[in-house]
Amino acid sequence: MAWTTSDIPDLTGKNAVVTGPTLGGIGYFVARGLVAAGARVILAGRSWEKLDAAAEALTEEVPGARLDRVALDLSSLQAVRAGAEAIAAATFEGGGPLHLLVNNAGVMATPQSRTVDDLDLQMATNHFGPFLLTGLLLEPLAESGEGRIVTMASMAHKVARKAPLGFPTAQVGRYSPWGVYSQSKLANLLFTFELQRRLEKAGLPIAAYAAHPGLAATHLMANGAARTMVAPIASIGEAFVRATGQSPEAGAWPALMAATYPGLEPATYIGPSGAFEGGGVPKPVSASRLARDPEAARALWELSEQTTGLSYP
Ligand SMILES: NC(=O)c1ccc[n+]([C@@H]2O[C@H](COP(=O)([O-])OP(=O)(O)OC[C@H]3O[C@@H](n4cnc5c(N)ncnc54)[C@H](OP(=O)(O)O)[C@@H]3O)[C@@H](O)[C@H]2O)c1
Repeated sequence: MAWTTSDIPDLTGKNAVVTGPTLGGIGYFVARGLVAAGARVILAGRSWEKLDAAAEALTEEVPGARLDRVALDLSSLQAVRAGAEAIAAATFEGGGPLHLLVNNAGVMATPQSRTVDDLDLQMATNHFGPFLLTGLLLEPLAESGEGRIVTMASMAHKVARKAPLGFPTAQVGRYSPWGVYSQSKLANLLFTFELQRRLEKAGLPIAAYAAHPGLAATHLMANGAARTMVAPIASIGEAFVRATGQSPEAGAWPALMAATYPGLEPATYIGPSGAFEGGGVPKPVSASRLARDPEAARALWELSEQTTGLSYP
């Protein structure tokens, strides 16, 4: 059975948040798929200019699109708290509760950098920020009676050799841009599976899913990895992704399926069905053994609670 966007059910009356909805990226097309099906979507991004551009393009593509914009910088814990408040306010003003949170925003293999909270930039943006945002939005999600959380992982999680369980404010050893990226994406999966276990235990009507886009030609390379490479290698890398990657629109399909497929088993991980999961129609895919390790997931959860100062559910 091949899933297509025409399988997205009518989402009229549903409220959704999509992080990282910049034009040309996967989040934009996730938002487009949701608004086209009638959902009201809160676009959560770190630049008003880019949020305005995405909203304008979405309104042109989907006349009557119901959209809101909220400033959200996932690399700062304080900014995530402010963003979550703004999202909750926007949700209820528009006739809450919240039905769907898509944790899409991310950075890949950026040059070494510490955030205002003295966390590694990739770990902060890709894991700790989304961990905090999710916890702060749990109440409006639970109020919907059918909340869903979709977190964007990556095939890169499979190359991580261990979970990121070191003390987050301590830099140990040499910085490896790809090593940290793969660990942050492993964290996305450990987070999703542990979140689902905890939601179930708490009896909350919310399901957690993960998705990965395969290889998609977006801004991810230019915004991150290309900045750690010498110019000719960066150009070759970008040309490779453009030539072999699928469109960002197709890259959005796994997240859209995870977000909307009726009755999908909680904790399902969706990715492309083509060769090496690089592209194609979406289907359930498997995560690495390490991503399914409940001990690592529990330890990461506790570390994330300490780091963000929020315990949930
Ligand atoms: N493209 C691929 O082949 C691929 C493969 C595997 C996984 N993924 C995952 O897919 C997701 C989307 O990436 P993409 O490929 O669409 O890349 P993209 O075009 O670079 O989009 C990334 C989005 O994240 C936002 N973002 C970055 N840092 C942020 C921060 N501190 N606070 C809030 N938003 C922030 C970006 O905002 P700005 O526009 O302001 O920078 C942008 O909207 C990521 O989680 C990525 O790891 C992508």
